[in-house]
Amino acid sequence: MPGNNQKSRTSNKVMTLFVCFLAALAGLLFGLDIGVIAGALPFIAKDFNVTAHQQEWIVSSMMFGAAVGAVGSGWMSSRLGRKKSLMAGAILFVIGSLWSAGATSPEMLIAARVVLGLAVGVASYTAPLYLSEIAPEKIRGSMISLYQLMITIGILAAYLSDTAFSDAGAWRWMLGIITIPAVLLLIGVFFLPNSPRWLAAKGDFRSAERVLSRLRDTSEQAKRELDEIRESLKIKQSGWQLFQSNSNFRRAVFLGVLLQVMQQFTGMNVIMYYAPKIFEIAGFANTTQQMWGTVIVGLVNVLATFIAIGLVDRWGRKPTLVLGFMVMAIGMGILGTMLHIGIHSPEAQYFAVAMLLMFIIGFAMSAGPLIWVLCSEIQPLKGRDFGITVSTATNWIANMIVGATFLTMLNTLGNAPTFWVYAGLNVFFILLTLALIPETKNVSLEHIERNLMSGKKLRDIGQK
Ligand code: BGC
Repeated sequence: MPGNNQKSRTSNKVMTLFVCFLAALAGLLFGLDIGVIAGALPFIAKDFNVTAHQQEWIVSSMMFGAAVGAVGSGWMSSRLGRKKSLMAGAILFVIGSLWSAGATSPEMLIAARVVLGLAVGVASYTAPLYLSEIAPEKIRGSMISLYQLMITIGILAAYLSDTAFSDAGAWRWMLGIITIPAVLLLIGVFFLPNSPRWLAAKGDFRSAERVLSRLRDTSEQAKRELDEIRESLKIKQSGWQLFQSNSNFRRAVFLGVLLQVMQQFTGMNVIMYYAPKIFEIAGFANTTQQMWGTVIVGLVNVLATFIAIGLVDRWGRKPTLVLGFMVMAIGMGILGTMLHIGIHSPEAQYFAVAMLLMFIIGFAMSAGPLIWVLCSEIQPLKGRDFGITVSTATNWIANMIVGATFLTMLNTLGNAPTFWVYAGLNVFFILLTLALIPETKNVSLEHIERNLMSGKKLRDIGQK
């Protein structure tokens, strides 16, 4: 009955899209929690009368929680499954949002942000993993980019809501309103199916097949995929043993760590967390200007992510990264120089904003999404869970270091040199990319693995 077939195909497509959308909602929350602190911090600082150092900890406590959450969720998502992990993450999101909104002291706020961080850590590990296991092969790559897009949309939404509440200085509302998407995620996760790959890994092939037949166009497709999963499960995850015994795998883990350190030390999150402060340094004295400036930063971040989505499979990873680091180095370098000379006219102010936006474009079109893509491509199957856990945790630790040192750097080195340090790092990353980063465009993951394990140089593991 072709009519019926057609109908079930359409409903399976809708089901797959619904599942991917829900999992990507976790990305949105990740972004909301990164973005919200920028607008809330100036008011929190005033209310609690905190020092620069305490402010840095209010920002960074979340990243500390996220690093712990990412490490813990490697274990949790293989024991309890991806669905239950996401559920645990959503519950933590709800608790953390409410608690931080009601915090009565800086210490309590820091503790609440550690809980939020745990949620973000779980989400940042589990959601992309779940997506890559649920999405049909054809759209697996774009799913990871979609996830990054959701992060940037979350950051923008947080900036907008911060702006809406800023007239009243209502930082508790800024933090508390995130409870709404967190509850939506929690409700949505109830309706998510378990990951077929995880079910099969637990030996429950019947349920795995049932889930796949609801998600794929035809039952043949579902069967074929289940066979592939069965085949790949013959390789048991034994990342830690492999790490101890195999120096080629250690190189892949090292590469994942390096990639995430590079992403964070571009300085992107300095702007994500402290954008209003940077606008203040650039001479925008009034809070409304600072808040709207921050919204524009968020918007440009979303839009420029589309450049990456368009370039990544055409140009490849390496040239896009090199170009991105160059753009970032120029943006940061000129901004630093302008701060050094002094920004005295409105023209100079707007030029400084243009440089800031140039930096954002540089990041969003390259390191933002590409580092996540590369990290998911370079690990050999047997050590995949371990390798990705290590690189994701590195993302958060490096993120924490950047967030915890920016204000101190401004106070000790001065404004201009702080920006020059980041400009210099971006120049260094151009060289590192050329020397060490592989091009993985149009190469199968099996091929990358074979090259890595046969001892090829890191930068050549993507060679055909
Ligand atoms: C990074 C985050 C960053 C975000 C900005 C992500 O890829 O991991 O640290 O805040 O991009 O868009």
